[in-house]
Amino acid sequence: MISKRVKKVPPSGIREFFDLVLGMPEVISLGVGEPDFITPWRIREKAITALEEGLTSYTSNKGLFVLRRDIAGHYREKYSLVYDPEDEILITVGVSEALDLALRAILDPGDKVVVASPHYVAYPALVEISGGKVLPLVTTPEEGFKINISKLKNLLKLEPKAIIFNNPANPTGVHYSNEELKKIWQVLSGKKTLIISDEVYDELVYDQKHSPFSSFSQEAKKRTILLNGFSKGHAMTGFRVGFVCANKEIIEAMTKIHSFSIMCAPIIAQIAASEALLAHKDINYMQSAYRRRRDYINKELNRLGLDNKLPQGAFYCFPSIKKFKLGSLEFAKKLLFQEKVAVVPGVAFGKEFNSHVRISYANSLENLKEAIVRIEKFLAKLK
Ligand SMILES: Cc1ncc(COP(=O)(O)O)c(C=O)c1O
Repeated sequence: MISKRVKKVPPSGIREFFDLVLGMPEVISLGVGEPDFITPWRIREKAITALEEGLTSYTSNKGLFVLRRDIAGHYREKYSLVYDPEDEILITVGVSEALDLALRAILDPGDKVVVASPHYVAYPALVEISGGKVLPLVTTPEEGFKINISKLKNLLKLEPKAIIFNNPANPTGVHYSNEELKKIWQVLSGKKTLIISDEVYDELVYDQKHSPFSSFSQEAKKRTILLNGFSKGHAMTGFRVGFVCANKEIIEAMTKIHSFSIMCAPIIAQIAASEALLAHKDINYMQSAYRRRRDYINKELNRLGLDNKLPQGAFYCFPSIKKFKLGSLEFAKKLLFQEKVAVVPGVAFGKEFNSHVRISYANSLENLKEAIVRIEKFLAKLK
């Protein structure tokens, strides 16, 4: 009954593991990639008011013009990057839909897509479901989990249709500096490869300035499909609002698919997202909390021998468990059953990462402290 393409895609490694966590009492979950904050009140209030006013219709396929205009204003102000709200911005149902649309809009059967790993779980799956072929670019801890330029150059010889780029990155918390991005752009410049740049964590960058990939030149802007949304930095996962900034031709193609499969993102969520762009104080508050937690968890993981590099963005650590001589799934299962702490096995993000686990610090400092006590106990038994 099922297409070969879909059958070939393995189920999400994270789902399988979290089916185990569900229903287990007293577990501290450092597994989920979701803010622990409730959506800031001013955003929720805006949604409530819109509902009270009876705003319950479809919107234009591309999304409410006011939201597109506000996103264009946000990019112009924050990044000096100009997108036309009329035809260079599309509102989607989360970055998830934006990613799916981008791949379906540009790929023909067999087209190659470079996916750097460790990677967000959806990337290879969506490439394959869209009929594409994944060209893996494996990064290593020694490379700081950053794209190695000569590996990229070699893969570009195979003329990939696109590369998926994630900055800041899930699961490593890596963030590329402006100089590093420029080096990557120099290699891509003059080629035909499109860049799908997933920047959903751009509000969660701690010690550096974020530069969107499209900001380097007119050519970079033309070839980059910039994906972003409100799930992470604005704590709005359940609202399901994302957006795409790209050239007119790509936005038109993506809107075509979107108009047949989704019609439009929910109006209430779009109105709330417009308010979110004004909620600077709330965003700064959450960002400072994540920074404190990051500093704490990074220090503690290293103290316990779980070697970890200070993450520069998002809300994840990707420490090494190599010393403990267990595979990542076995390590995560034992930690869960013995001490009731959930982390995600590294293999969920690529088969090469069996010596790592992903730890999310989108959790209260109090819970993080208790989790560290439990992890310390667990590791003492392993030695
Ligand atoms: C890198 C990355 N991209 C996209 C998404 C999906 O985001 P959204 O909730 O906007 O669909 C996630 C969620 O974890 C993510 O980590």
